[in-house]
Amino acid sequence: MTRRIAFINEKGGSGKTTLVANIASHLAMERGRRTLAIDMDPQGQLGKVLGLDVRKPRGSSIELLVDSLLGDSSRPDAPETGALRRALPIQHTRIPRLDVIVANKALALAPGLADATQETGDRAPERRLAQNLDLSREAHAYDFVLFDAPPSFGALTLSVLLACEEVVVPVPLTFLAIDGFAELLRTMAMVRTRYGHRALRVSMVVPTFYRRTRMAHEILEKLTTRFPKEIAQTIVGFHVKIDEAQSHGLSIFEYAPRDKGAVVMAALAEELEARDPRTNTGDPA
Ligand SMILES: Nc1ncnc2c1ncn2[C@@H]1O[C@H](COP(=O)(O)OP(=O)(O)O)[C@@H](O)[C@H]1O
Ligand SMILES: [Mg+2]
Repeated sequence: MTRRIAFINEKGGSGKTTLVANIASHLAMERGRRTLAIDMDPQGQLGKVLGLDVRKPRGSSIELLVDSLLGDSSRPDAPETGALRRALPIQHTRIPRLDVIVANKALALAPGLADATQETGDRAPERRLAQNLDLSREAHAYDFVLFDAPPSFGALTLSVLLACEEVVVPVPLTFLAIDGFAELLRTMAMVRTRYGHRALRVSMVVPTFYRRTRMAHEILEKLTTRFPKEIAQTIVGFHVKIDEAQSHGLSIFEYAPRDKGAVVMAALAEELEARDPRTNTGDPA
């Protein structure tokens, strides 16, 4: 069974891309997990920080949202039942077991394309991402599918929420950090009720950009009170090597495996691995 997990915070610069890239790298490199990281942010940074060229027209995540490119996934009675006609637009990375579906600016057009297909009879374009992944045998071969979500709530985020069961929320420990969190929880509640997607839950809240300041401690305390079960035991501080690694298109494990940043990212990956909703019971947040 594949765990599909979205990393979401509408605030840019909260650490989403960094967490997806490094957690995915650790799961694949050290934990032997077949991992697919999907960039759903039109800025396309996930592929870049993992050393891929996102401009090459080799396929990108927009294809997962436009069924004409993938075959008619809206017709489960079609002869191709259970398999998409086209392969997923994945790229292999240098890291064994880690594949990526990159994004680029074109993804920003996806909601418009979805509207266009709606006119031609597709009544639920927001479910297309989920359907395409459900129907792809390749997608089911991964242990983990991690989504790097876009920084604003809209059609893309809704598609992502419908395509995953778990959400990880990185929260920078800075002023206004918790703004947007309430909105995310409301959106998730709406997705659970209006779309009947009951399984959707917050599996981990990750404090990021920790500094020894009173403000950081206050925010951390609030988060811990509000999310006693979901709050990660591992807190992410400032690790300059993480930033440097990304500028070279490398994970922290390749660039500076002995750095504290690598220890922190590895610990988070293993916490996430241990928080498997199928083995842990507990109320969704
Ligand atoms: N723990 C960290 N220590 C130092 N720099 C970091 C850390 N996490 C992220 N960064 C840097 O902060 C910036 C924003 O992080 P990013 O992961 O891109 O956020 P988001 O995807 O939420 O916009 C990037 O330049 C990234 O390299
Ligand atoms: Mg990002």
